[in-house]
Amino acid sequence: MRKVKATAPGRVNLIGEHTDYNQGWVMPAAIERNVVILGSAGEGRQVTVTAREYKQTVAFSLDRLAPPEGKAAWIDYIKGVCWALAQAGYELTGANLVVQSTIPIGAGLSSSAALELAAAAALVTLAGVEIPLPVLARICQKAENEFVGVKCGIMDQYAVALGRAGQALLLDCRSLDYRYIPLKLGDYCLLIVDSRVERRLSASAYNRRREECEAAVKKLNHILGRPLQSLRDATLEEVKEARPYLPPRLYRRSRYVIEENMRVLESAAALEKGDLATFGYYMGRSHAGLRDLYEVSCPELDLIVETASGTPGVLGARMTGAGFGGCAVVLLEKDMVEEVTVEIKEAFARNGWLEPYFYRTAAAEGLKVDI
Ligand code: GLA
Repeated sequence: MRKVKATAPGRVNLIGEHTDYNQGWVMPAAIERNVVILGSAGEGRQVTVTAREYKQTVAFSLDRLAPPEGKAAWIDYIKGVCWALAQAGYELTGANLVVQSTIPIGAGLSSSAALELAAAAALVTLAGVEIPLPVLARICQKAENEFVGVKCGIMDQYAVALGRAGQALLLDCRSLDYRYIPLKLGDYCLLIVDSRVERRLSASAYNRRREECEAAVKKLNHILGRPLQSLRDATLEEVKEARPYLPPRLYRRSRYVIEENMRVLESAAALEKGDLATFGYYMGRSHAGLRDLYEVSCPELDLIVETASGTPGVLGARMTGAGFGGCAVVLLEKDMVEEVTVEIKEAFARNGWLEPYFYRTAAAEGLKVDI
């Protein structure tokens, strides 16, 4: 019987937040936590999925796939992938899938993109179909946008599909060109700190940010008298000149996006030179922009970043992912992990907040399929 094992990692975004849907640049890395799907060929057109975490088994037919009416459940991500693959003209066959995951769910480390990519890889392999990874990533994004109903950008699916051990992925979200940037961390490492703040209102606030960016592009078109496709096409000088004519909120959003794009490119250049200190500096600037201009941070993430940044041996810290809770990422000396962890735990305890979770990670390998 045909069998497959698909392993898809989560991701941490190193810099370039809320820039993907503005056709800008992002620089994520895959992390050492995975969704693993064991698959075998099934009966006819039926897909049966067992999720170990939820102790649930759900079966559905490939011939009857409709978007969820209420809140999406985990199975909708897999149904969505089947739907999007069919839309793209790929014929799947029945399958039995068993899903296991070590990626914390809802923490902003792309457990959904990992589930989508692992399921897509398992299903297409069982159906004997070959799809290039960038195409598979775009199909999974379509599943999430149009079936699950979350208007995410392309970053997560690309990072999960194309991540490489020891490297960050520098992705141009307009052309979808990408290249790998070495993450030579030496005596330093990455520490992910999960604030444990549930990203409850994140979907609506995320969509609002997207709409604000679209509105800013329209206004800037008018003010600058030239057609911009996205905020990527405006310069910082132009946005500063346009400031008196822009609603203050749209000015803040535009300025953030343009500056963040610059920070991504500067960070990539610094990392290529092995200059971790400069990269750390941009991480700090990125967090400040997300907090003050894009307004997607929260007190817990700010406290993590502030506490970490004030501890010796820390080169930089920032919130990562969509924001409104979820995780921060810290670049620090390996020897200081213990100390930073204690400082953050104590700062949280003083506020009476839940103790954060800590995950040390290196940049890991992307999607992998074993037959
Ligand atoms: C979420 C989305 C991504 C990206 C980030 C913010 O993770 O899924 O596409 O927009 O937020 O950078």
